[in-house]
Amino acid sequence: MCAALAAGAGFALPRSGWADPAGISVAEALDAARERPNTLAGRAARKNILFGTSLNHWDMEDAAYLAVIARESSILVPENALKANQYRASPDRFDFGPADKVIAFATENKLAARGHTLCWFNSIPPWVPKTITSPEGARQELLAEVTEPCRHFAGRMQSWDVVNEVVRPDDGLPLGLRQSYWLDKVGPDYIDLAFFAAHEADPSALLTLNEMDVEYDHPYFETKRVAVLALLKRLIANKVPIGAVGIQSHLQYVGLSKFPFTPSVFSRFLSDIADLGLKIIISELDVPDRNLPGDVPERDSIVAKSIGDLLFVAASHPAVIAIVTWAITDRYSWMQHDPIFHRKDGLASRGTLLDEQMIPKTAYWAAIQALDQARR
Ligand code: G3I
Repeated sequence: MCAALAAGAGFALPRSGWADPAGISVAEALDAARERPNTLAGRAARKNILFGTSLNHWDMEDAAYLAVIARESSILVPENALKANQYRASPDRFDFGPADKVIAFATENKLAARGHTLCWFNSIPPWVPKTITSPEGARQELLAEVTEPCRHFAGRMQSWDVVNEVVRPDDGLPLGLRQSYWLDKVGPDYIDLAFFAAHEADPSALLTLNEMDVEYDHPYFETKRVAVLALLKRLIANKVPIGAVGIQSHLQYVGLSKFPFTPSVFSRFLSDIADLGLKIIISELDVPDRNLPGDVPERDSIVAKSIGDLLFVAASHPAVIAIVTWAITDRYSWMQHDPIFHRKDGLASRGTLLDEQMIPKTAYWAAIQALDQARR
């Protein structure tokens, strides 16, 4: 795509190639967003909140899509490029080229950036458990998968998801930890190790524990929230350099009355995290709508209310510093490609803020209203 096309499309292409020497600070990203008041990022910036989305490098040929992201965002996350099973095809490979493209696009458009994710049970390169069987070997691999990305992007990441989805009380393990290759091989201190290594490799980044399914008013989710808080207290007691908690907010249980979203319950959890001295990032907001009615206006209305309700609570809480949606348009939502989240009626998912033609849906306006009405 030529620079002239990009210039006309409302966003900038990197000056020289894709790698940039330095990133965009939070202050720069918020200032730039304030120049776009009639956008999600602009409205969030009024509350000193970064607002953005995820991007896959293979979708970057869509100029209209990039223009929407540049317009509506003040922070950007490579959706998959910084997962070890994507950048680390073999022991001697660290292919950060795809992530470089996403981060360079963020920098050129004055968006902050965040990294996702250094340590996740679901993104371990397939060759790792097959070839690395010793505890010390696994420890060295974990250090490599934390240190190399952090070094490569040092100074350019507002935050990193250091560990992702590490709590699963159903596994019946101490501290409610999730069973995983890392836990088996390195032991429960693998989480501490990942944070210390990330901080050493990039002291400037805000280090985050990212978790899912902590948003609802139900005993299963309360058990998970309690386990997350217990783990956070242990990490803090061990002087682990953790600075924030990511709450994924894939509102997948919307439409199931047994899992209500109760604002006061969610707000209390935010306060429990903040009371530990930690910041909060709503890190992957969308509404997997497989359980919702097929009727589009009805479904859009439920999606909008779900997003609006959560965002009003989040944007009203002083500890919330960023809100990130997982894709901003239905056209590029992961839900279209994950069979587990496909609808039985075969209709496409409509769980993001803009439709497949990238036109704002009811959910977009609900997000704007929540950001405007948030009290903080
Ligand atoms: O890269 C390969 C490609 O070479 C191959 O041809 C293709 C065949 O299907 O697969 C491609 O890998 C896929 C990858 O996305 C990149 O598209 C994987 O199969 C697919 O499982 C993977 O899905 C991602 C998923 O995480 C697992 O990593 C989704 O795009 C991504 O949106 C989703 O995001 C996660 C967060 O990271 C963590 N929280 C939950 C969230 C939703 O599951």
